[in-house]
Amino acid sequence: GKHNFVTIADLSREKILYLIKSAQEFEAHPNREILKGKVVATLFFEPSTRTRLSFETAANRLGARVIGFTDAKVTSATKGETLKDTILMVSNYADVIVMRHYIEGAAQYASEVAPVPIINAGDGAHQHPSQCMLDLYSIYKTQGTLSNLNICLVGDLKYGRTVHSLIMAMRHFNPTFHFIAPKELAMPDEYKLYCRDNGIKYIEHTEFTEETINQADILYMTRVQKERFSDLMEYEKVKNVYILKNDMLTNARDNMRILHPLPRVNEIEYDVDENPHAYYIQQAQNGLYAREAIICDVLGITYDEIVKDKTIID
Ligand code: CP
Repeated sequence: GKHNFVTIADLSREKILYLIKSAQEFEAHPNREILKGKVVATLFFEPSTRTRLSFETAANRLGARVIGFTDAKVTSATKGETLKDTILMVSNYADVIVMRHYIEGAAQYASEVAPVPIINAGDGAHQHPSQCMLDLYSIYKTQGTLSNLNICLVGDLKYGRTVHSLIMAMRHFNPTFHFIAPKELAMPDEYKLYCRDNGIKYIEHTEFTEETINQADILYMTRVQKERFSDLMEYEKVKNVYILKNDMLTNARDNMRILHPLPRVNEIEYDVDENPHAYYIQQAQNGLYAREAIICDVLGITYDEIVKDKTIID
């Protein structure tokens, strides 16, 4: 059957560890021609910098060619063409489709109608599974393990799809989560229920304190997702709720690393970028290797084929 990469819920522990191993191999040798002759389509119905450019870089570095759009306004969607027809058309041209869409469930729907593999590059406030893979890869690289970690999730836990995906993926690895959010942006009940059903420990906080930071192995900051608010007055009330500053990091654990899916608005002060705990720029770079691994995986290219590949360009 066709492989898709649509939801973190499908990812087993073995699959996550496999994709990390594959990402390590791509980090060692990012440039190859293993996808020579393939076409990767990137369909972005919502804005993106990192996700689109790193998927396109991944495809290019593996020898594939890229087609796509970054603004649905220039496509026939503006004439009323349905998502189904758009996906069927692009399936005629491309071997794999990477899609970001504002509707929750759009990627799942696309995967059901498309004859080619679909990679979900974000569907509304729902999931962002390729971000999750690069987050997991970043956690693994900085901590040496995914198991038994203390992870603080900070900021917009209501609309932040990356934290929702991370919780689901971490169910295999016995984490302790600290959910740090104002009550307006608290973790939705469905994800708390998910934690309870899957034996995931979590503690909720409304204050962002040094005491909590000092227990963390991973401090995962998020942006307040302005584009998901129906009432901008509500956004104005919470937009600067937590701001990470250097002086809050004095007693952090040595191994603690700060992650952020980016873009940031002002939830991490620029001074923090020089702090040894800061990792969010490298995290974004890890996205390239994770996405090389994901594209190869949906195309059915195995790890053995990747390591035996003779097309490595050093
Ligand atoms: N982290 C992330 O998804 O960034 P972009 O929206 O810029 O792709």
